[in-house]
This record gives sequence, structure tokens and C-alpha cells, in this order.
Amino acid sequence: MAEKPTVYVTRRIPEAGLALIRDTCRMRLWEGELPPPKEVLLQEVADCDGLLCLLTDPIDAEVIGAGVRLRVISQMAVGVDNIDLRAATARGIPVGHTPGVLTEATADFTFALLMAAARRIPEGVDYVRAGKWQTWEPMGLLGVDVWGATLGIVGLGRIGAAVARRARGFAMRVLYYDPNRRPDLETELGAEYAELEDLLASSDFVSLHCPLTSQTYHLIGEVELRRMKPTAILINAARGPVVDPDALVRALSEGWIRAAALDVTEPEPIPPDHPLVSLPNCIVVPHIASATVATRERMAAMAAENLLAGLRGERLPYCANPEVYQRES
Ligand code: GLV
Repeated sequence: MAEKPTVYVTRRIPEAGLALIRDTCRMRLWEGELPPPKEVLLQEVADCDGLLCLLTDPIDAEVIGAGVRLRVISQMAVGVDNIDLRAATARGIPVGHTPGVLTEATADFTFALLMAAARRIPEGVDYVRAGKWQTWEPMGLLGVDVWGATLGIVGLGRIGAAVARRARGFAMRVLYYDPNRRPDLETELGAEYAELEDLLASSDFVSLHCPLTSQTYHLIGEVELRRMKPTAILINAARGPVVDPDALVRALSEGWIRAAALDVTEPEPIPPDHPLVSLPNCIVVPHIASATVATRERMAAMAAENLLAGLRGERLPYCANPEVYQRES
């Protein structure tokens, strides 16, 4: 019988994924609550055939280089900006990820952030907890209308489109900016294409759904924040570094925009004494947009399936560097 492949899993993930791996592999699992330190990662990948990692693991050229036997890298996330895809492709290693299964949960959560910021829900909760609720206040905790407002979506991929679908139920006007124009979605969703600067100037809510790349790093900085309406709200459930955090602190403190709601930050985790954490017009939550029981189970199973396909020498069902296959043919 052929020897079972050895795989390293960098964190305990839902059993829906672990069970699949355990069946056919010699699995080593990092049991820590925090990501394995780089030295551990380097040591562990040295004799592994497969690696299952999370977005918190920096899978750089050094780690990929140390994995001399690595045949597949599978990430339990859709975004793969923590992985040096170029280094993986150069080594002929396919990289798996988990698109699709987290789209709806992430779009739900984006709307939760949008509503929470628009209607000041965290401030209301704090108010009650602090014993300040004395009476119904005609002018207390006034927010802004979501219904009928204009939503600007930056990045009309799967998640951006799912957010646009929800916006229709709120009778919102939807603008979008994306390097790839999507006439199909313009018709289906009634979304209007706009250049980024026009979208920023016209939207009541700006929601970010682009991947983090060298083109989108600090896409939203001082110039862009100053272009937004002073009443506008920024939502980021994409990746922290898409927004320049120093510019955002100034925008929120000086009233260039009204509020922000962030599922992701730069750095991540954000230190508790960072100004974005204490500003009353900023909501920060710890990167939980895909965090539902069912979604995380689906992500774990999909990551395991990608891993096992790679170990069997089959094409990964969901591959983030498909050029790795062109290279082989
Ligand atoms: C989460 O941020 C993901 O990329 O899946």
C-alpha cells in the first residue's frame, strides 16, 4: 500500500475538513490558538506533501522554498494575499482557496456593518449599558437613512454582487467601480458603472469588495476620503490595507466622512489603543464576515477537498493560480 501523504494544518478548523484529511493523510495539526510562528512553519513544511493554511499565515517564498516536497497549498479563505502565488507557481505548486461558499455570509455581514454604522447600533448598546437611557429622545442617536440611499460598491465580484442584490431590497441606487465592467450584472442588478472618483463623490455608503493586490493597496487614502461626502459611511469587509488607516483616522476625526465600519484592518489584529478602535464613529470587528457555523464548515470541507485533489495529482477544484497548469502543459 502506498504511504499516506504527510500534511500540515496550521490551525484546528471545523471537523468537516479535518475528518476528510485524517482519513487519507498523516496529519500534523498546530493546536495553538495563535498562528504557528514562522520558525515552526519552516520546520513543519520541510517534510510535508501538503499544507493547509489560513489567511493569518505568511506563506512567503521562504516558506514555499522550505517545503521541498510540497505538492499543494490549500488555504481556508477566498483571499490569498498572504501567499506568494508567484513563488508557488514557479515551483509548480497549485494553491487552493474557497470562493463562493462564503459569499452570502460575507454579504449579510457587510449589510450588518452598513446598518450598524448608519443607525449607530453599537453607540445605542453602549448608551443603555452605561445607564444613560432616561427617556425617548426626539434628537438622540440620530442616524442616516439606508432605504433609498446610494451605495457605491468597489469591486463587483461575487461578494460585491451579493451586496448589490441585498441593496435592491432597500431601494438603494447602486453604483459600482471595477476594473472589469460587468454589463451582465448592470442589467441583472440595476447597478450603474462609475469611475472610482465619481462613485466616491456620489455615494452615501461606499463598500469595499476588491482583493488586496499591489493595485488596491491603500486604494482609499486621503485624496479618496476627501472626495467622499461628509455624510458618507465607509464599509470595509475586504482587506485592511485597501484603506490607508492614518488617512481614515483623520477623515473620521476631522469630519471628512461621517463614519466607518471595518471588519478588516491594517495591521490585523489592530492594537486596542489604535485611534480607530476608540473613535465613536468607527466600528471595528475582528475579521468575522464569514463567521457562521455553516459557512466555516463549508470552507473547511472545500479547503480539505482542494488539498486532497492536489495530493492525488488532480486539478484543484478551486485554484487561485490556474496558470500553474498552463505551465505544465
Ligand atoms: C476571508 O477574509 C477570506 O478571504 O475568506
